[in-house]
Amino acid sequence: MITEILRIDPDDIDESVIERAAEYIKKGELVAFPTETVYGLGGDAMDPGASKRIYAAKGRPSDNPLIIHIAETDSLSEIGEDIPKAAYDLAEAFWPGPMTLIVKKKAIVPYETTGGLDTVAVRLPSHPVARALIKKSERFIAAPSANTSGRPSPTKASHVIEDMDGRIACIIDGGAVDIGLESTIIDLTEEVPTILRPGAINLAMVREVTGEAAMDPGLKSEDEHIRPKAPGMRYRHYAPRGRLTIIEGDRQAVISRIKDSCDECKNAGQKVAVIASSETAKNYSGYRVFDIGALSHEEEIAKNLYDILRRLDEEDIEEIYSESFNTPNVGTAIMNRLLKAAGHRVISV
Ligand code: TXA
Ligand code: MG
Repeated sequence: MITEILRIDPDDIDESVIERAAEYIKKGELVAFPTETVYGLGGDAMDPGASKRIYAAKGRPSDNPLIIHIAETDSLSEIGEDIPKAAYDLAEAFWPGPMTLIVKKKAIVPYETTGGLDTVAVRLPSHPVARALIKKSERFIAAPSANTSGRPSPTKASHVIEDMDGRIACIIDGGAVDIGLESTIIDLTEEVPTILRPGAINLAMVREVTGEAAMDPGLKSEDEHIRPKAPGMRYRHYAPRGRLTIIEGDRQAVISRIKDSCDECKNAGQKVAVIASSETAKNYSGYRVFDIGALSHEEEIAKNLYDILRRLDEEDIEEIYSESFNTPNVGTAIMNRLLKAAGHRVISV
């Protein structure tokens, strides 16, 4: 299949581009498009054939459900059932934006889209291209992140092209995304609203709206019997081919431990790299260092993480040492992804 690549300026939307992409969605074909979190791989959410095509293009296990993207909050009640007040309160506070709500599904939503579950994930993105595409196609759009299963989510069109060229009908290139980490997923089917995947909307922000809220215990547990509730959070994800280790502790101790480890690798003839904050990056001169952004501007770190994970593979890095980035607001989400990428390999110094 030849993938059509359409460029668009999100600040000055060319309707003819949206129209062309919407035609593919209406025909049951797949279109990758930018959202404010990461690029999505979209298809008609009510068409089981389109969902099957999404799973095939990603190489994704079919029990891992898709998120349905809508353009108006009112659409939530067309897809979901028994929707609690907390859902509307959260929608009012954070939609359009980087938040996905899990509610009971209506019968019209095919099991192919929900991975066989009786619940459904719904998100109203804020990105103008995403919203224009949903509206123009007159469909709800099922869209996982537009990466091959297991790879980091795409934050630029070039990432999508790497993974999806020749596998889907169309890619809309709207430039780099804004946030760089996937949406916060909040489960509203239990007594207490529960975060199944941390994102830019953090626990404190959710609690401000709903009062009570919790983190899914499966996210942190070392005990493999307590599994994350979101199927996608159970899989190995984001991991670069090289071995990634996170070094945490006192700043100076971390720097000297990372340099020692790099020296050992170099002596052993291995290709080694460091992931460091802008504040500390200069300490690693002489080594291959990826500056992930400033701790004082934590959004930069979130935005750069996946691109760096991809570049490590491009450069065939064998050993990677990363600082820890437990920043105040997005730190939980950043560390959730980084720990997964590291297979939870952490050394405290
Ligand atoms: O920011 C995002 O959410 C991006 C953009 C494209 O919107 N999408 C995204 O989709 O990250 P995906 O498919 O890569 O991740 C969806 C996650 C998976 O971990 C999946 O298991 C979980 O949502 N999920 C979907 N439906 C669910 C449900 N009914 N119950 C529990 N988890 C669900
Ligand atoms: Mg994904």
